[in-house]
Amino acid sequence: MPANKKLLFLPGDGIGPEVMRQVRRVIDWMDRKRKVTFDVTEGLVGGAAIDAHGTPLTDATLADALAVDAVMLGAVGGPKWDNPTDYMKRPEAGLLRLRKELGLFANLRPATVFDALVDASTLKPEIIKGLDIMIVRELTGGVYFGEPRGIEELPNGERRGVNTQVYTTSEIRRVASVAFELARKRSNKVHSMEKANVMESGLLWRQEVTKLHQEQYSDVTLEHMYADNGAMQLLKNPKQFDVIVTDNLFGDILSDEAAMMTGSLGMLPSASLGAADANGNRKALYEPVHGSAPDIAGKDLANPCATLLSFAMALRYSFNLDDDAKMLEKAVQNVLGGGMRTADIMAPGMARCSTTVMGDSILRELDKLSS
Ligand code: IPM
Ligand code: MG
Repeated sequence: MPANKKLLFLPGDGIGPEVMRQVRRVIDWMDRKRKVTFDVTEGLVGGAAIDAHGTPLTDATLADALAVDAVMLGAVGGPKWDNPTDYMKRPEAGLLRLRKELGLFANLRPATVFDALVDASTLKPEIIKGLDIMIVRELTGGVYFGEPRGIEELPNGERRGVNTQVYTTSEIRRVASVAFELARKRSNKVHSMEKANVMESGLLWRQEVTKLHQEQYSDVTLEHMYADNGAMQLLKNPKQFDVIVTDNLFGDILSDEAAMMTGSLGMLPSASLGAADANGNRKALYEPVHGSAPDIAGKDLANPCATLLSFAMALRYSFNLDDDAKMLEKAVQNVLGGGMRTADIMAPGMARCSTTVMGDSILRELDKLSS
C-alpha cells in the first residue's frame, strides 16, 4: 500500500494527552466510517520530554516531525518545569525549536465566536456575535529569534538583557502573502499591524507589505494600523477586522487578546505552516491555543474542542480534506448547540460534561452528519 497520510502526535504536558486522545477517536472514526486512514506515530515534547530525556525536544523527535505530513501538538509547560535557570531546558523551548526547524513561519489563529457561546464573552453580545477574525502571526523571526540576545555583565556591575527585533524583506513578504491569500477566500480585507512610528523594523514591515500589495494583491483591501491602536480597535469594534497580519511578538499578544474576546479559549485552534514545496505541500503543526492547564490535568475536565478543531485545520490545510474538516467543525457546533458544555464554557441551563463525554457526543454527531 502507498504511504498514507502521516501524522506525528506530540501530546505534551498537562491536559495535552487527554484532549489529544479525543483526536485519536476521531481518526479511528474516519478510518472506519470514511475510509480515510492516517499513519499516526507518537512522541514526547515539553516537560514530558525533559522528564524522559533531559531535553524538551530530542533530535530523534525532531527528525520524526520533519518526516511527517503534519504534527498535532497538545500543550507544553507546567509548574514542575518552571525553573528558568536554563532557557533551553524549558518546555517552551521544545515548541520554539519545532517552529524554527520546521520553518513554520505563518501562524494562523482564528478568533471565532460560536453562536451558542456568545454569552461567554466579557464583551457585549452585539459587539462579538458572528465574530470571525483570522490572525496571521509571523512565527520564526522577530524578537523571538533575533541575534544578539542574552544577559551580560557590565563592567560597572550592572547586567544588561538584550533581544533583537529583526525582519528581512523575504520574511515579511512570505507571511504577508499568506495573509492576502487567506483574505481572498474570506472577506478580502487585511489589516497589517506594527509600530512603524517607533521601530525601523516596523517601518520596513509597512513598506514591504505595501509593495507586495501593489504588486500582487491590489484586489484585496489593505489597511495599516499601529499595533497599540490595533489592540484598542479589537476591543472597540472587532468586527471591522477580517485578516490581521503582524509580527511574532505583537501577534503573540494580539492573538491572546482576540482569543479571550471570544470568551472561550477552550474552543480555539491554530495552525503553523511552512513554505509550500514543489508539490504544494507544507510542513505544518496544529495545536489548540489554550495551554497545558496543569490544575485540571488528568481529571477528564478539559475541553477537547480546540484540539479537535485544530485537527479540522489539519484536514483542511495539510490533507486537502475540506469536506471532512467542515463536517468535524459542524459536529462541534451542533454539540454545543445541543447544550453540551465542558466546565470552562458551562452556563446556566446547559448540560455539563467531561472531556470523554464531549468526545462521545461529537462522534455521535459525526455519525449523524455522515449518514
Ligand atoms: C504561544 C505561546 C508561546 C509563544 C510560548 C509558549 C513560547 O505563548 O504560542 O502564543 O510565546 O509563542
Ligand atoms: Mg502566546
